[in-house]
Amino acid sequence: MDPEEFRRAGHELVDWIADYRLRAATLPVRARVRPGEVLGALPASPPEEAAAFAEILHDLDAVVVPGLTHTQHPRNFAWFPSNASLSSVLGDITAAGLGALGITWQSAPALTELEQVVCDWMRQLAGLSEGWHGTILDGASAACLVALLVARERATDGSQRRSGLQGEPSPLTVYCSADAHSSVAKAALLAGYGSDHLRLLAPAGPARCMDAAKLDEAMSADRAAGRRPAAVVATAGTTGTTGFDPIGAVAEVARRHGAFLHVDAAMAGAALLLPEHRHLFEGIEEADSLCWNPHKWMGTVLETSLFYVRDPAELVGVMATDPSYLRSSVDGAVVQYRDWGIPLGRRFRALKLWYQLRLDGPEAIRRRLRRDLAHAARLGELVAAEPGWELVAPVQLQTVCVRHVPDGCGPDELDAHTLAWCEAVNASGQAHLTPSLLDKRWMVRVSIGAEPTEWDDVEATWRLMQEAAATTTPGREG
Ligand SMILES: Cc1ncc(COP(=O)(O)O)c(C=O)c1O
Repeated sequence: MDPEEFRRAGHELVDWIADYRLRAATLPVRARVRPGEVLGALPASPPEEAAAFAEILHDLDAVVVPGLTHTQHPRNFAWFPSNASLSSVLGDITAAGLGALGITWQSAPALTELEQVVCDWMRQLAGLSEGWHGTILDGASAACLVALLVARERATDGSQRRSGLQGEPSPLTVYCSADAHSSVAKAALLAGYGSDHLRLLAPAGPARCMDAAKLDEAMSADRAAGRRPAAVVATAGTTGTTGFDPIGAVAEVARRHGAFLHVDAAMAGAALLLPEHRHLFEGIEEADSLCWNPHKWMGTVLETSLFYVRDPAELVGVMATDPSYLRSSVDGAVVQYRDWGIPLGRRFRALKLWYQLRLDGPEAIRRRLRRDLAHAARLGELVAAEPGWELVAPVQLQTVCVRHVPDGCGPDELDAHTLAWCEAVNASGQAHLTPSLLDKRWMVRVSIGAEPTEWDDVEATWRLMQEAAATTTPGREG
C-alpha cells in the first residue's frame, strides 16, 4: 500500500470508526455469536491476491462487529469500564503510522522522552510526590510480575546472578488479600515463589479490607518457621467489590518485616485524579511500587498501564540486559525503558495518553469520572431502598454489587436465581452485567463508567434488572 492509497483508505476507516461509535448504542451489548462462528465465517487459508479496502470494511461489518461484546456501548456495565476515548484512538493511530521502534533511547528518543513526560504528568495529576518514576507497561498483570521479581531480588540480594531461587536456603513468602486479582497469584507463581508460599488473607469487614494485624501475624508466623517475607501486594480497588486495603497500615507492617510493597490500583487508580477520593489511597507514598491502568475507567486505549517505582536503579538492576547491538554513546545518561519491563521492542505507547490529556483535558476527564460516581451512588440508593434487593458491599466508587433475594430462598436456590436474572439481562442485549462470586456465593456487579453512559442508561438497566429478577424468581418463572 503506498501513501496515497493509505490516505484514501484511512479516510474511509476513520469514517467507519466514527459511524461505529455513533451506532454502538443500537447494537446488542453482548456478542451473540456462538463459539466457532467467527472462525467459520473466515477463509481457512490466507489470500494470494490483494483485496479492495471495501472488502475489509464489509467484513468488519459482517463478521467482526457481530463478533464483539461492545465495551463502548452506553449500557455496558460488565467487568470494568474499558473506554477507548477517541482522542486516544488518534494517538494510537499515530503510533502505528510513525512505526517508531522502541528498543533503545537512540532508536526513538522522542518515544522515550515523551513517555517520561507523560508518566510525570500523570504522577502530578494523581497527586503523587516527585519521588515516583514511571513507565507504561501493557497491563497491571505485567506490573505485578515485575514488582514481584524486584521484591524477590531485593529479598535475596540478587539471587538471579547466582543460583536463583534454587540456591536459596529458605523460601520467600508473598502476601495479598484473598480478594486480590488473580494476576497477583499468577505473578507470584511466575516469579518462582510457588503457591505454597503465597498467603491469601481473608478480607475483613463489610468493606472487605486487608486486616493489617492479620498480615503481621502471618508474616511473624512465617519468619518463626524460617521463611522470609519478601513482598506484600495491597489492592486499591478490588475487582469484585472495589475494596481498598489500608495501604498505610499495610506499609508499616511490610516495612517492619523487611518486605517490598506493591500497590495494585488497576481499575480504581483513576480515582487518584479526584482529590476528594485520594483518602482511599492513604499511605500510597509508603509503597515501593504502584500500578494503575488509564486503559480502564480513564479511557486511554488498551495497553496503557502506568507502573511507578521509587527506585528505578533497583528495577533496572533486575531487568537490564546489555546486548552489544543496542549500545550507544549516550548509555548511562538516558532512560532505557527496555530495562523497566519485560519486552524489548515497544511501540510509541505514550502517544495515546498524550493525545487524550491534550485533546480532552484532565478537567473533562475528572467531570466524567465524577458523573459516573454520582450514577453509582444514586443506583446504590435505589437498590438499598428497594424491598427484596440488597447491596452486598458498600459503593466505594463506580461499582454497585447487588443481589435480589426472594423470600424463603435457600443459598443454592439464591445462587441459581442470581445467575438466572443476570443472564436474562445479558441475553436481552440491552445491557451487560457481570456475575461474580463473593465468599463463594453469586452476586452481580454493575460496573458503571462506559464513556457514553448517562443516568437514563443506568435507570433503564435498573428497571431491566428488576423485570429480569421478577420473571426468574423461583416459583414464578415464565
Ligand atoms: C484489581 C485488578 N488488578 C489487576 C487486573 C489485571 O489488569 P490487566 O488486564 O491490566 O493485567 C485487574 C483487571 O481487571 C484488576 O481489576
